[in-house]
Amino acid sequence: MTEVQKKELIEIAVKMTAVSYVPYSHFHVGAALLAKNGTIFTGCNIENAAYSPSNCAERTAIFKAISENVHSFEAIAIVGGLENEKGEVEIKDFCTPCGVCRQVLSEFCDKNFRIILFDGKSTIKEFLLEELLPESFGASKLS
Ligand code: THU
Repeated sequence: MTEVQKKELIEIAVKMTAVSYVPYSHFHVGAALLAKNGTIFTGCNIENAAYSPSNCAERTAIFKAISENVHSFEAIAIVGGLENEKGEVEIKDFCTPCGVCRQVLSEFCDKNFRIILFDGKSTIKEFLLEELLPESFGASKLS
């Protein structure tokens, strides 16, 4: 992936924070998932009054892709931040994916899959899934 492609993916993730449904946490997360076929699937977090049915941005993006029969992915950009009193999203730090999302990504993403994070200023961090979820439980354990 080129730096330009990474920045494009981050920009799409940032735009997605505008449509997060977060009346409880007010923490907006946006994701942009790049499939190997070049399609970008977007996601935002979607909360619920009962809390546990809430869905993270990363899982929204990956479930959208799987539901379109796309199963091969190259990278995901994730950003997040609280809204201010004007309702604007302020990205001030890296938004690392939660454990559940790491597990869901591990179901579908190979060893080269990249997780791209942005601090809202100028720094981009990049991880392999193996770095964020070492010794993961996967399909091979069931055979
Ligand atoms: N959230 C995500 O969307 N992705 C993550 O990986 C971390 C957390 C959401 C869930 C909830 O809507 C809000 O951020 C606060 O936890």
